[in-house]
Amino acid sequence: MIKNDLFLRALKGETVERPPVWMMRQAGRYLPEFRELRDKYDFFTRCRMPEIAAEITVQPIRIVKPDAAILFSDILVVPQAMNIDVEMRPGVGPWVPNPIRSAKDVEQVIVPNIEETLGYVMDAIKVTKEMLNDEVPLIGFAGSPWTIFCYAVEGKGSKSFDLAKGMCFSDPIAAHSLLQKITDTTILYLKEKVKAGVNAVQIFDSWGGMLSPTDYQEFSWQYINQIVEALADITPVIVFGKGCWFALPEMAKSKASALGVDWTCSPQNARLFTGGNITLQGNFDPSRLMSPIPTIKKMVHEMIDSFGKDKYIVNLGHGILPHIPVDHAKAFIEAVKEYEHK
Ligand code: CP3
Repeated sequence: MIKNDLFLRALKGETVERPPVWMMRQAGRYLPEFRELRDKYDFFTRCRMPEIAAEITVQPIRIVKPDAAILFSDILVVPQAMNIDVEMRPGVGPWVPNPIRSAKDVEQVIVPNIEETLGYVMDAIKVTKEMLNDEVPLIGFAGSPWTIFCYAVEGKGSKSFDLAKGMCFSDPIAAHSLLQKITDTTILYLKEKVKAGVNAVQIFDSWGGMLSPTDYQEFSWQYINQIVEALADITPVIVFGKGCWFALPEMAKSKASALGVDWTCSPQNARLFTGGNITLQGNFDPSRLMSPIPTIKKMVHEMIDSFGKDKYIVNLGHGILPHIPVDHAKAFIEAVKEYEHK
């Protein structure tokens, strides 16, 4: 049994004393303790060393004390396992030396044996679960097929991902074949994560907002929904689509336990679009953590009032930014814990 089960109760839609809180990308980035480890090992090495990954996962639990942990890893370990090389270049970010650009390239991509290729993630989960000692739940995650596709085709980050969109529109058969391979791999991967011990999973569709509502259905949502359908009976699933407010009505009809929203969608509209019954997660503008601490606390309380304390998980609207002072991140979490005393 998990001692602090607020997060799991909110996912079930139960009435809670106060909403749970965690921050996307809370493991790493802004923590000095993380930067120390970063200087010692390169990024994917850190992901592959279970003790290091576990240590980075629990750092924020000790330091900023959110109600859930998210495993330190990356969405891009999945394409690596599928025979697509991905490097993390300092100052550049993700880098794919041989991006997927044609039907022939897609043929080279495999649906791998998860234990052989990603067993290190399962090992990290097991070590993390021991370290967490059932204090808080552990979240596992994957990128959405579309978001992984964006990196695989583009080869690096992009403002518009027009090469990725170009492949969808000029060679939809090849694009769908790659999206399906990523989907099949992701389903196997997340099922293994659940077996290894994660208590919920989140799907990050960071680039879904690049697509028009119609294209979103065809190239992103239908694949995310396959994952939701495959996982919903064994674990709660959270779907976070950055810039995807237009898809909320469709998402709310799925078996997802919760939907993430970014800060460009008001809490009122998010409730309206989702029918008021599903748990929502979000949506503090990550840059707002630059505000003075009293302002952060006031805005967090207003945000909870707007979403309502039930069927709600407090979070940022996207990942925490690297330059946020640790005491501001702490204030964000504390504000939620103080809410019950208001
Ligand atoms: O939430 C957490 O703290 C858990 C760990 C986590 C990381 N990446 C660690 C990481 C999670 C959930 C991710 C997801 C991820 N990775 C996404 C989806 C979420 C989002 O932000 O949209 C995406 C698009 C990626 C791909 C990725 N990985 C990029 C673009 C970068 C470089 C820029 C950056 O975020 O710093 C990474 C590297 C990365 N992944 C770092 C961390 C801690 C920084 C690398 C370093 O410090 O060496």
